[in-house]
Amino acid sequence: MSRKLVAGNWKMNGGAAANAALVNGLLAGIGQPRCDVVVCPPAVYLHQVRGLCGENAVLQLGAQDVSVAEGGAHTGDVAASMLAEFGVRYCIVGHSERRRYQHESDLTVAHKAERALAAGITPIVCVGETLEERQHGLTEFTVRRQLDAVIQINHGRLAGMVVAYEPVWAIGTGESATPEQAQQVHAALRARLKAVDTDAAGVRILYGGSMNADNAAALLAQADIDGGLIGGAALKAAEFLQIVAAAG
Ligand code: PGA
Repeated sequence: MSRKLVAGNWKMNGGAAANAALVNGLLAGIGQPRCDVVVCPPAVYLHQVRGLCGENAVLQLGAQDVSVAEGGAHTGDVAASMLAEFGVRYCIVGHSERRRYQHESDLTVAHKAERALAAGITPIVCVGETLEERQHGLTEFTVRRQLDAVIQINHGRLAGMVVAYEPVWAIGTGESATPEQAQQVHAALRARLKAVDTDAAGVRILYGGSMNADNAAALLAQADIDGGLIGGAALKAAEFLQIVAAAG
């Protein structure tokens, strides 16, 4: 079984003082975790958070997005190479909030993953169905479509990525998928990865969507759940640390 990964997606929350309090709280209680732990602050705070974490930190740095372009005339974008220069090791791509509010297509997400991989950054590729899609029995169809775009563009390099299954209806709602619901989708994603590339069978597949200190252990106990992508609960040091402990 692979080492689990717990990533905190801070979204557009925080500020210099709040970040310092959060990171210091995490460092004070984290000890030697038995899983990989990543924090993803807003881009402008990556430098601050890297400083707070120190060089050999148990907390690794992640970005929340990356440009689909390599560089040049893309106002407001941040290139994968720039993130890499700041010590960023992971990058969330295709989060449902970006798919929805920034209209990111499956193909854009696939190319963002490509940029991250080329810069030596592990993309955390998010997939997930809306409530409507689930109600119409389209859950596996939807996540397979999203994953297949990434597979097509990144064939042969899939082992370098992480996938996060985040049902849209579970994000920020307090209504997590049940462990059985999540496991079913994770197993389908694993089967797809394995079918296209045997090296990708070990890709870590995280669950995200209202994971918290109360439900983390049951979700993380599932055979194909290799960690969590945590939103709201990642903003409270004590609760995030409980999830990290559950993944150990
Ligand atoms: P949530 O967010 O834990 O607040 O539901 C998860 C995410 O959006 O990555």
